[in-house]
Amino acid sequence: MNESRKIWRSVVEGVGAALPERRVTNADLEKMVDTSDDWIVQRTGIRERRLAGPGETTSVLATKAAEKALAAAGRTAADIDLIVLATSTPDFTFPSSATQVQAALGVTRGAAFDLQAVCSGFVYAMTVADKFLASGSHERALVIGAETFSRILDWEDRTTCVLFGDGAGAVVLARAQGQGAISDRGVLTTHLRSDGRHREKLFVDGGPSTTGTVGKLRMSGKEVFRHAVGMVTDVMTDAFAATGTTAEDLDWFVPHQANERIIDASAEKLGIAKSKIVKTVHMHGNTSAASIPLALATACEDGRIKQGDLVMLEAMGGGFTWGSVLIRW
Ligand code: UT7
Repeated sequence: MNESRKIWRSVVEGVGAALPERRVTNADLEKMVDTSDDWIVQRTGIRERRLAGPGETTSVLATKAAEKALAAAGRTAADIDLIVLATSTPDFTFPSSATQVQAALGVTRGAAFDLQAVCSGFVYAMTVADKFLASGSHERALVIGAETFSRILDWEDRTTCVLFGDGAGAVVLARAQGQGAISDRGVLTTHLRSDGRHREKLFVDGGPSTTGTVGKLRMSGKEVFRHAVGMVTDVMTDAFAATGTTAEDLDWFVPHQANERIIDASAEKLGIAKSKIVKTVHMHGNTSAASIPLALATACEDGRIKQGDLVMLEAMGGGFTWGSVLIRW
């Protein structure tokens, strides 16, 4: 291969996850709101979720996930010079939760910041970190998705409170030289989009500059559902076109885990075999920016995702925002 075509790739060195202690089943929710296990399972595939206790903040969960990712990568805090934390539920309005993770881990160099793209947060954060590493400004990143959505749910609104859960996942992403080929290890292509005209379909009704309160999540689920499949399949199609790959080349499809019906319909539309789908929505519910790294950690720990595998990530969420990341593991 021509020397001049060598490029920098961002290679995943390790993955980690952390979940709150408290497990809440659909049967538990039946005691809180007018719902049923049947309805939740049939409409979403969710069977249980974890809910954070008082001490389990977003940065606490993020730190635990990051520690596991560092251990899996065989790295220490001293190796990290960039932390990008995707969250819509930070510990405080400021400083960023990323800087709290930085301090908790003992990382003393480089930069740490939060990134907010709601459920697309992890694909946005991977894309941003990939560009930092490719530019040569930073060497090794922790990319984290961490959320405590239970704190912004209206626990009397059955149309939303049964859908979400809390958790965190992290990956260590390192700069490594590639050949500019799709056989290279690392992030191969990323595609991000947003369209702010969809605000009213999924939003939080409070914030520092408007109400001065944190607010609660509001969603027109049907409206979000109507757009989801088209949006995520568009950005996956972009990823295939940019790399000359097809659905058949994929080893694993690791989508945002909001609803099993959206996941299955997206896979079917693109001809991705059912056996290649990594699903964790039944265990975690929708954990927003944490859902993809939680699913990645599950599939790495159980031995499904292995080095050299071609892995497609995708998500869509509030904004709307949506995006895809294609990675050679
Ligand atoms: O993370 C990215 C953003 N989020 C998403 O991707 C979520 C996208 N949307 C969805 O996943 C689905 O639209 C939902 C799971 C939220 C809802 O499923 P649906 O099939 O679109 O149901 P629906 O909203 O049309 O509601 C159907 C019925 C309604 O009753 P009526 O009006 O038909 O009598 C609701 O009131 O189900 C009722 N319902 C419930 N029943 C029992 C709504 N929530 C519940 C509930 N338990 N928790």
